[in-house]
Amino acid sequence: MSSADHLKQQAAARALEFVTSGMRLGLGSGSTSEAFINLLGTRVRGGLDVVGVPTSERTAQLARSLGIALGDLNDLAPLDLDIDGADEADYQLDLIKGGGGALLREKIVAASAGRMIVMIHGDKLVKTMGAFPLPIEVIAFGHIETAKRIAAAVEALGYGKVPMTLRHKNDAIYKTDSNNVIYDVAFGPTMADTKSLATALSCVPGVVEHGLYIGIAKTLIIARDSGIEVMDRS
Ligand code: A5P
Repeated sequence: MSSADHLKQQAAARALEFVTSGMRLGLGSGSTSEAFINLLGTRVRGGLDVVGVPTSERTAQLARSLGIALGDLNDLAPLDLDIDGADEADYQLDLIKGGGGALLREKIVAASAGRMIVMIHGDKLVKTMGAFPLPIEVIAFGHIETAKRIAAAVEALGYGKVPMTLRHKNDAIYKTDSNNVIYDVAFGPTMADTKSLATALSCVPGVVEHGLYIGIAKTLIIARDSGIEVMDRS
């Protein structure tokens, strides 16, 4: 197992300590969440009684294959916990998510949970976010026009012209589980006032959701070679 995989396992094992029988859980997406879901599957086979709401088709498939009971968010909300990964986090516990393309369902599920617990590798904890390009999910209809409006909104906030890339996979335009497209916006590691940015992006017609999670995560589990740190939103 690589050192990165080992740290994901450790973060996932720490997250599992928050889970007790009877809980309704949001199940995140991405490789760290998959490490968590694999551990959860072992506990479920040992008798732990939980039901999960998956944040992506891929997560649903994995959870089902492990025998984890799944349900509909409309029936199960409010969830007790949502456990997910992130692409970047700052010391206020704000996040960039969506590198794996699941940001929309991830945010809906996180918003429906009493507590969002986020597992990251220490390298993802930064003073100022933005080194990781911000994913913005856009409805496919007229997406090029929407992208122009995003660029204008970003420029109006003083960021200047920021590189925006329409996400592709295997030479085709990437489509999310909800059949939308994603633009990755490379702000660079100096993303100031993420709250205003999040509000401005949410106001652009055609934007379905963006990967800024402001004020949503309650607990951050940070895995480093030196050990695990747990930070709580004050
Ligand atoms: C999925 O859309 C993302 O939000 C993931 O949570 C994020 O990309 C972290 O993924 P890893 O755990 O694979 O780094």
